[in-house]
Amino acid sequence: MSELTETEKEKAKKYYPLPALAEKARIQNMDAYFEKWKYSVENFEEFWAEEAKMIDWFTPYQKVWQPPQGEQDEFVGKWFVGGKLNVTYNCLDRWIEKGYGDETALIWMGEDDSVKKFTYKSLTDEVNKAANALKSLGVKKGDRVCLWLPMIENLAIVMLACARIGAIHSIVFGGFSAESVKDRIDDSECTILVVADEVRRAGKNRPMKDNLKGIIDTCDSIEHVAVIKLTGGDVYEYEKDVDFLALMEEQSTTCESEPMDAEDPLFILYTSGTTGKPKGVVHTTAGYLVFGVSTNYYVWDYSCLLDLKGDTPANRDVWYCTADIGWITGHTQIIYSPMALGAVTIMYEGVPTWPHGGRFWEICEKFGVTHFYTAPTAIRALMKLGDENVTKWNLEKLKMIGTVGEVCNWPEWKWYWDVVGKGSSGEKPIGRPIVDSYWQTETGSYMMVNLGAVTPMKPGSCTFPYLGINPVLLDEAGSKVETPNTQAYFAYDKPWPGLMRTVWGDHERFVNTYLAQFPGHYFTGDYAQIDDEGYYFILGRSDDVIKVSGHRLGSAEVEAAINSHPKVAESAVIPYPHPVKGSTIFAYITLMNDEDASDEMKKVIQKHVRSVAGPAVYPEIIMFATAVPKTRSGKIMRRILKAVAEQKDIGNTMTLANPEVVEGLITRRQMMGEIQF
Ligand code: WTA
Repeated sequence: MSELTETEKEKAKKYYPLPALAEKARIQNMDAYFEKWKYSVENFEEFWAEEAKMIDWFTPYQKVWQPPQGEQDEFVGKWFVGGKLNVTYNCLDRWIEKGYGDETALIWMGEDDSVKKFTYKSLTDEVNKAANALKSLGVKKGDRVCLWLPMIENLAIVMLACARIGAIHSIVFGGFSAESVKDRIDDSECTILVVADEVRRAGKNRPMKDNLKGIIDTCDSIEHVAVIKLTGGDVYEYEKDVDFLALMEEQSTTCESEPMDAEDPLFILYTSGTTGKPKGVVHTTAGYLVFGVSTNYYVWDYSCLLDLKGDTPANRDVWYCTADIGWITGHTQIIYSPMALGAVTIMYEGVPTWPHGGRFWEICEKFGVTHFYTAPTAIRALMKLGDENVTKWNLEKLKMIGTVGEVCNWPEWKWYWDVVGKGSSGEKPIGRPIVDSYWQTETGSYMMVNLGAVTPMKPGSCTFPYLGINPVLLDEAGSKVETPNTQAYFAYDKPWPGLMRTVWGDHERFVNTYLAQFPGHYFTGDYAQIDDEGYYFILGRSDDVIKVSGHRLGSAEVEAAINSHPKVAESAVIPYPHPVKGSTIFAYITLMNDEDASDEMKKVIQKHVRSVAGPAVYPEIIMFATAVPKTRSGKIMRRILKAVAEQKDIGNTMTLANPEVVEGLITRRQMMGEIQF
């Protein structure tokens, strides 16, 4: 065997959390974790019943888990059957009732440095006004409300208001286009759209509502457009507009929490899959909340009102998750889980690099952040800006740091460990733990994750399963793969309360996407492998989902946007490695007339895609092609397109219907030369 390089030796080591953390931890060592995990999967009903005590119920449930009884609840079954509760009540009211009304619930910071600190009482007042305002617009329990908003405090307020009255929110990421908003509104027949007039971003006001011109009038289900006047800019007006903040001011600060059934939907969140149409992932009230609360409680160990761990309410730990609420991470990790635990949670309006590259760390210093959670793409962007952006801030209070969204690879892991984690090197490196959490929009919260205070880490590994979760590695035929270091399909063989229940309006799609491939299992769509110590490593998607800057996009959706340009005949997109974004979009485009191919044409198409799909969907690299390789059944062979793009061996082309196109692609790719970012 060849000698390991210095980097390989370092990567192969284990890294340890600061020992002091374990002393106060809820699970104090790995033996206790393994024991509890074994108990939790062997007695999963008893285990989840224990966890369900962390939330307050209006009516106790009768049964923890009802096994699947037919197609509608295949695999997942029903959780906490017969229980009644309200999520907003659990996030706010219960803390007021316990005497914590004047303690801090949410700290919001604007791009312009303005800070709004909400106590449980003051936030409840705002939420109730918003809830009453929604009611005055005719919103009832079960109605769908679409929120397309920047990271303003009113996003948190309106989502909690929906949950309070039992309306189902569907939040659309601000970086998607007005057309994407329309598709999502139409799919779940939302009656209200809540939108801001403009967005504040990197010091400028940018259009938001104006983008809806001509589009919103085609959304038949919409009864009112609730406009949040953020900048007061002069924007396009629509006859269904309502000034939502003004309407809120007319409302009472009292609003009863709607008792919701455990299995009632809490929200829909659209996510990309393998077809052009995004899936409306449906999460329920009780299962989602219990799972979110439980995971955050044991993984991060922060002191919170549920368990002050010797802290006073005023000096509880401070939690800062940098995600956008438009993604699942923001839903679960900024709002619902930390708030239901009674933690102090921070929400920041802006981007990490404006007005300076130390913005995250400035926020950590300013609010005494103890637990910081971000994405590998942000770490890569920040590490390029230089260590002094971090070191000039006082991060003494920081206890744990974490990542989510994609694999945290060695360079960024090492930087995060050294510079933010203040980790040591040597034989037994010790530092602030990096929590590598692996999960999905569909799973509600963490599935594979290290317990920050106790689990020895390996760079790039999400380590071990969360309690109650039983992961399995499968081969093509569905047999278990137990050999270390062997790539396999990643699935779970047991349901858990936080798993999505269905795809809105298309239960068959839910079954086909997640349950049909390996009967009796939920299939993640990812590849994974274990090492010889049982550590899990996620190897990426086995389907056509692309992660750009940690944002989940479907290749078919991007292709649909490209193809909607009149000069485009066909396109095929694949992920291409990018130093900061992880992957970027590489698009092969066949024009109606190949003679139109030019750099100018590339710009035209990029602009077009931006306008139809939004700035989050940007085909950064375009290569014109006379045709793309396909199988005889007409499926695009992305494996070959990836190999051509990365100038690697293309392998076998025997299954292609049109093998002759490959040579031409290779030649055009060579002509493009090295791709610079
Ligand atoms: C990927 C984000 C490696 C994975 C919460 C998954 C990860 C998809 C990790 C879900 C991680 C997420 N390590 N890969 N720690 N976390 N992924 O729905 O491919 O936006 O299937 O949910 O992100 O993305 P989603």
